[in-house]
Amino acid sequence: MAGIVVKGLGYAHGRRSVSNEDMARTVDTSDRWIREKTGIRSRYFAEDRTNTDMACDAAEKAIASAGISREEIRWLIVCTFTPDDRTPSTACAAAGSLGLRQDVLALDINGACSGFIYGCELAGGLLHSRDGKGYALVIGSEKISPRMDMKDRSTCVLFGDGAGAAVLAWDESAVFRFRGGCVPDRDVLYCDQKQGLIHMNGQEVYRFAVSRVPAEIRALMEENSLSEEDVDWYVLHQANERIIDSAVRRLGKPEKKFFKNLYHYGNTSAASIPIALSEMEEKGLLRGRKRILAVGFGAGLTYGSMYIEV
Ligand code: ACO
Repeated sequence: MAGIVVKGLGYAHGRRSVSNEDMARTVDTSDRWIREKTGIRSRYFAEDRTNTDMACDAAEKAIASAGISREEIRWLIVCTFTPDDRTPSTACAAAGSLGLRQDVLALDINGACSGFIYGCELAGGLLHSRDGKGYALVIGSEKISPRMDMKDRSTCVLFGDGAGAAVLAWDESAVFRFRGGCVPDRDVLYCDQKQGLIHMNGQEVYRFAVSRVPAEIRALMEENSLSEEDVDWYVLHQANERIIDSAVRRLGKPEKKFFKNLYHYGNTSAASIPIALSEMEEKGLLRGRKRILAVGFGAGLTYGSMYIEV
């Protein structure tokens, strides 16, 4: 055994809550269509808060909940496809605002909605490379609202802005497992070069997700001989309630073990899984040591799953 564990969690979201009715005032849609097709009821738009602002708010909470000194953080990985600037990275900007040590290794990675899972796998390798000393801070943070084509009703109703952060530590008694990869496709989900706006073939992504997500869960569990009793919670990328429900049906697993909070956030891409974990902690669902199986999928197309203890 030996692997990473989550020591602390925190989250933040955009300033303004935007309901489906609010969206229907600017684009030809309805609360009913959005709820029936996705489960989403509202989302947050960051407005004047930057991606870095939200990342730092989430990180401050995660550091406080871990009860560590920020001096002990050796790695900062920000998972995002919507950085404030091409360079410097969100991670460098956040390292400055958070007052992390100067020799912190700070970098952004873009794994889209699988970003946080990729980030945890990377952090595990980095912690292991230094004999498990110190902590890694992994943040999923997205300001997607400026990247949404507000005239395209098939995408603009889906996304929201937010950030989730986790302080990770190496633990000799922990079990951490990862699977993941990518199925390259430039056309199904991308930001255009001219304006940087999101374009998506929703049905293609949907088909990818409903087959890949249950396949990943099955494979991760089989490869590591995990039984149903070994998993306390399934935390899937919060893109669409129908995708989560489809995984429950296909796998025949207990629905109550699948956490959902997409109703109030929409799809926050790399932030969705750490926000979900943080909310679960806030609600007291992670008391004691809980074993989580998390799955992400998104642009790339990327996918990733991890088994991690919180
Ligand atoms: N309001 C009302 N009507 C709409 C809207 C809307 N917001 N959007 C589309 N429609 C209409 C379409 O025009 C179409 O009308 P028509 O039949 O007259 O042509 C009808 O609704 C059906 O549209 P579809 O696109 O076929 O709807 P679908 O059932 O596929 O649902 C959805 C669309 C919700 C986007 C679904 O495909 C989906 O969830 N896909 C997965 C998206 C996802 O999970 N992305 C995650 C990755 S994100 C990342 O990596 C950054």
